[in-house]
Amino acid sequence: MRKFCVLVSGGGTNLQSLIDSVQRGEIQGQICGVISSRPGVYALERAEKAGIPTQVIRRKEYADAQAYDLAMRDAIKATGAEFVVLAGFLSIIGPQTLRAYPNAIINIHPALLPSFGGKGYYGLHVHEAVLNAGVKITGATVHFVDEGTDTGPIIAQGAAEVKPGDTPEVLQARVMEIEHRLLPQAVGLMAQDRLQVDGRQVYIKEEQI
Ligand code: GAR
Repeated sequence: MRKFCVLVSGGGTNLQSLIDSVQRGEIQGQICGVISSRPGVYALERAEKAGIPTQVIRRKEYADAQAYDLAMRDAIKATGAEFVVLAGFLSIIGPQTLRAYPNAIINIHPALLPSFGGKGYYGLHVHEAVLNAGVKITGATVHFVDEGTDTGPIIAQGAAEVKPGDTPEVLQARVMEIEHRLLPQAVGLMAQDRLQVDGRQVYIKEEQI
C-alpha cells in the first residue's frame, strides 16, 4: 500500500474527500501525514479526527525561500510519503522538494487549466475571474506539479456549467463537487502506481490483477 502525505492551507474539504475514500477502500493507499502552511485551519482538525499525524510549517518562520523549501522537503520525507497531494495548499513548492518527488506531487486546481491558472489564481479569485471572463464552462483539473505554477502535465479534468446569476461562492460550490470526485480518483490511480508521464501526456496504465 503506497503512502502519501497531503499538504493543506484551509478548510480541507478535499482532504476530507481523500480521508473518506481511503476509509471506504476506494483509494488503496495510506495518508501518512498532513502538513499545513497555516496554523488553526479546519483541515488540521479533520486530520486529527482521522488519527493522521499533523504538522504546521509556516513560510515566515524561515529566513528565505530555500530554507523553507528544505524544511518542507525534510518534513514530507519524514512522514514516509512516496507521493504528495496538494489539496488547497496555497504555498509554492520549491525546487528541492520537486527534485525529491519527481512526477510524484499532484495538485487540484479549481478551473480547466491552462485557463485561469498561474500566480494569483487561487480559491475564490479563480471563480471571480471565470465569471468576469463570461465563459460558460469551468471545472477542476488534477495535474502533476512542475517548476511552473499550475503548468504541469494534466492527469484528469471535470467540467461544470457556469449558470446565469452565479456568484463566485455558488460557482465554487458547484466546482467543489467535481473536485471531491476527481481528486480521489486521481489519487487512487497514483496509489496503484498507474499514472505514466510522457512529456505533457499522462497515460493511465491497465489495472494489474
Ligand atoms: C479548492 O477549491 C482547491 O481547488 C483550491 O483551493 C480550495 C481549497 O479548498 N486550490 C487552489 O486554488 C490552488 N491554486 P479545501 O481546503 O476545502 O480543500
